[in-house]
Amino acid sequence: MLLLLPGLLFIICGEPARCLEENGGFTFDGDIRHFAVAANTVYVATEEKLYQLSHDLTLVQSLSQRGILTGSDPINDAHFSRVTDTDERNATFGVNILLPFVENDTLISCGVIECGYCEVLDPRNISNVLHREHIQVGSPWTGSASVGFLVDVEQQSTETYILTANQQYEPAEKSCSLTPEAVNLHNTKHHQKGSIFSLSDARSTTSIKRCKGNAEFVDGFQINLNIYLFSNLPSSDEKNKVRLIWLEAKTNKLETLESLRGATLRVSDGGEGSKLLASAVIPGGPPVLWSGVFSVDGGQTNTELVLFDISPDLSGDPDADPDFGTVCPLNTASPPKTLKPKAVLFRQKYMTSVLAVRQKAWVVFFIGTGDGQLIKLAVDKNYHPTCPRVLYRANDDRQVFPKMLLDQVDLKHVYMPLQNQMKRVPVSDCSTYTNVQDYWSAQDPYCVWCGSHNSCTFEDDCQDTDWISIPDDFQPKMVSYRVTDGSGQITLNIQIHLTVGQEARSNFACQFSEPCSTKSPPPQFPQCTCILSKSTLPAEGLPVTVRFRLGTTQLREELKLFNCSEISGPPTSVLCRRCIEAGCSWSKSICSWADGGVEDDNVCQMMESGINFFKPEISSITPSVVSFYGRNHAVLSGYNLSDVTRVRIQADMDCTPHESPVWNHTGVTLTFHIPSANTKGTVNACVLLPDGSCHGNVKIIYQSSPSCTNIVPRSSWISGKRKITLTGSHLDFVEGVMHNHILQEVSPPRNTNHQNLTYDTPAADKKVSSSTLFLKVANETLPCSITINYYPDPEFTSFTSTRMGSNVRITLQKKPDKLEMTPAELSVWGVEGGNQYPCVMGAKETSNEMDFFICEIQRTPNAEFQHLKVTYGDKTVTLGPPSLLHQVILTLRIVLIPFIVLALVIICRWQKRLTAETNAL
Ligand SMILES: *[C@@H]1O[C@H](CO)[C@@H](O)[C@H](O)[C@H]1NC(C)=O
Ligand SMILES: *[C@@H]1O[C@H](CO)[C@@H](O)[C@H](O)[C@H]1NC(C)=O
Ligand SMILES: *[C@@H]1O[C@H](CO)[C@@H](O)[C@H](O)[C@H]1NC(C)=O
Ligand SMILES: *[C@@H]1O[C@H](CO)[C@@H](O)[C@H](O)[C@H]1NC(C)=O
Ligand SMILES: *[C@@H]1O[C@H](CO)[C@@H](O)[C@H](O)[C@H]1NC(C)=O
Ligand SMILES: *[C@@H]1O[C@H](CO)[C@@H](O)[C@H](O)[C@H]1NC(C)=O
Ligand SMILES: *[C@@H]1O[C@H](CO)[C@@H](O)[C@H](O)[C@H]1NC(C)=O
Repeated sequence: MLLLLPGLLFIICGEPARCLEENGGFTFDGDIRHFAVAANTVYVATEEKLYQLSHDLTLVQSLSQRGILTGSDPINDAHFSRVTDTDERNATFGVNILLPFVENDTLISCGVIECGYCEVLDPRNISNVLHREHIQVGSPWTGSASVGFLVDVEQQSTETYILTANQQYEPAEKSCSLTPEAVNLHNTKHHQKGSIFSLSDARSTTSIKRCKGNAEFVDGFQINLNIYLFSNLPSSDEKNKVRLIWLEAKTNKLETLESLRGATLRVSDGGEGSKLLASAVIPGGPPVLWSGVFSVDGGQTNTELVLFDISPDLSGDPDADPDFGTVCPLNTASPPKTLKPKAVLFRQKYMTSVLAVRQKAWVVFFIGTGDGQLIKLAVDKNYHPTCPRVLYRANDDRQVFPKMLLDQVDLKHVYMPLQNQMKRVPVSDCSTYTNVQDYWSAQDPYCVWCGSHNSCTFEDDCQDTDWISIPDDFQPKMVSYRVTDGSGQITLNIQIHLTVGQEARSNFACQFSEPCSTKSPPPQFPQCTCILSKSTLPAEGLPVTVRFRLGTTQLREELKLFNCSEISGPPTSVLCRRCIEAGCSWSKSICSWADGGVEDDNVCQMMESGINFFKPEISSITPSVVSFYGRNHAVLSGYNLSDVTRVRIQADMDCTPHESPVWNHTGVTLTFHIPSANTKGTVNACVLLPDGSCHGNVKIIYQSSPSCTNIVPRSSWISGKRKITLTGSHLDFVEGVMHNHILQEVSPPRNTNHQNLTYDTPAADKKVSSSTLFLKVANETLPCSITINYYPDPEFTSFTSTRMGSNVRITLQKKPDKLEMTPAELSVWGVEGGNQYPCVMGAKETSNEMDFFICEIQRTPNAEFQHLKVTYGDKTVTLGPPSLLHQVILTLRIVLIPFIVLALVIICRWQKRLTAETNAL
């Protein structure tokens, strides 16, 4: 079956690596359609080209996927239509499936050139084609989302097949070939029964069908002997269903496909209609944990990262699913079981992709968004997420591709496709944390504090075991403590929440600034106990400093011990917080000495604040949509705002709220600065009272930063105030435009919307011939990469006036210049007897020597004007009456020309008559 089509000429480009970007990225000639990573190579298919890059994204080579199709296919297989035309046509190979087949040392690439087409390439040199064939593997439509991956099926020996899961349309879309069934297993090798790419098995050819309706496959993978496939089943009359299929990969193709069982994934009760957008399996297990990005309402906006246990349930009958089957059941099968989420890990708008990596006891999620961000979220074994952290943020709104992969060489970079770019983003930047406390607060499972380096590093960069790292589960504080009072002795029990290397553990000690009784037990990691020599605590509290030693690392913690029974008063949230912070125990609205265990101050959050303020309310914030640089002087309106001290801004599930002081107060409005944000997305704002309670909940939306693409006109006169229109994106966030010749002057926008902004140019002195623009957004000054030319002011020389019925037409003369002034930029008045008559601007005419602006003064008794008043920008010029010479010329033009024409006509007629008379003679 091996056939080579000699007419298919693929051109090798071998371009130099010119596109490597400074921040670890590569820009391609077109948008990324597919990519795959194997060992130290990254393969990327765009619409027109296939690229081979090394793991650090240096280009090895690229190949044009456009060739001239001339071949005819001698093989006639009824299952697939083949290209039989012999006329020459240009064809692009649109790749739908790109699979590095590592064991076989090949790269399989399948897609569409008019119809199905596959190639087997040398993975070290993609220009070496080992095999090519017109056969349909995967979707027959270019650009269609096909799921394809290699599966190992255990037979006598392990056989590898390509599993393809294809979008199903109803009715099937027209195509040059048959619509493939929903799930198929294709051969990968020639020696397999039916040869390479065939669907056949020893006995038959089987596929899994979609029983009724559409299906869109999102993801799939194999773990051990189980295959998992995820799809959306959209429907016009019902809500979208998210389906999981389990297959057992054993015996042979047929039995693998016939082992089909499945479940429905339901995000929330009544949450049918939610849609799966992207997915990632969590390495490790059993149980098999999997995370999916779901759109809650089926749209793109409202997205959640949800965790499921998808361990296969093989108890039910195989191949008896109502939605899929090798043979569809005649009567309706019973609905599949429903799986419910274990946890909702993250809520953020526009999530588009996810990658999950296990790192020690933590799972780290890398989340791509529709507005070009890569967010890292570490989650502990109890599914408690830490603060999300933005690893990469594009300035614009390019959507992250649904698939992201890890660099297989160092496992420390994420490949993040952004339209026509591939970014290689480091998973962590440990060196930014310069002390243990900062390191601890970041909760980054990739980093450790390396004692011998006295710095934060990746775990494998710390050579010895003298390291400390964050604990295996989420903890609110690094050091917690309790104070107990039993039989006249005060015991301070302190615990440090860290994991440590062997050397750090064996060198653990604590030192207290207060003398401890000799009865105190010795330190035992992670605890130290001090029985105080004192038996009473002063009312103002006892300050205690604790120094820890862990290997070569020293830590220090300042505490203040209080007599717990003295923390009393009305049970308010303030008192509760004071009690917990003092290491005491809060129960039944009373603060008392602790009796073991550690409490966190979450118990206080539910309580009413004790002090009686009028409860503030927020009705709006203007503006409420800002760029990620924030906004100065935003206005918050509402009621009872007089006691508000700060505005708190917090993202959903974000543990580090920002607080902004209030600038200017009335009971119903206040001004504050909306702080800059790391992430784009929606945050909630509430107003803080002095007792720490926060009221109200309005949304602020952070979006991309403004950018400019063009200006009209491209020049200004030197006296300034020419109205300029900037076009670009997100221009409504611009607070002012600056010119580099006079940066201190910020021109506020006259008028803006997201696409256009108009402003007035500043004046310049005669030395300035051009100036570049900057946009002021909050505290940032963004370069605009647009230059504006400065030319001398326009020079108006004279005017003429002509009566046209009841109106007077004025013709204004200007010396030619490069300003390209339009009539709309001018205002003209005729002045006569102390009165001003507006002149309605009309057309502009240009000749070589002069520019003319024509306007009309309507319904005026005057035919003559003493002078004209002409304004442009901020300038007003007065133009004197036309000179005598001008008047003469004008008069001649008006009076003489008709006269001459009349004379010519008369002469002509006269001559004709003369000729006629002569002929008659
Ligand atoms: C194929 O397309 C290329 C570029 O679009 C063009 O230069 C070439 O002439 C075309 N060849 C044929 C046979 O149409
Ligand atoms: C790939 O192979 C071709 C010919 O087989 C050779 O000309 C080319 O230099 C090779 N490219 C690389 C990057 O090795
Ligand atoms: C890979 O598969 C091809 C096609 O079946 C076969 O000819 C070749 O020997 C295999 N190579 C290896 C290294 O297994
Ligand atoms: C705490 O305060 C109570 C009441 O003021 C007092 O009786 C008790 O002795 C104090 N205990 C300590 C340890 O200071
Ligand atoms: C701008 O800078 C000022 C002064 O440093 C600061 O108070 C304000 O919060 C900043 N504004 C924003 C939006 O970050
Ligand atoms: C406070 O707000 C009032 C009214 O909005 C305004 O007139 C005043 O200038 C503002 N003061 C400051 C310091 O911004
Ligand atoms: C921006 O200006 C362009 C050109 O004047 C116009 O076509 C477009 O509609 C404007 N956009 C908006 C949102 O006003």
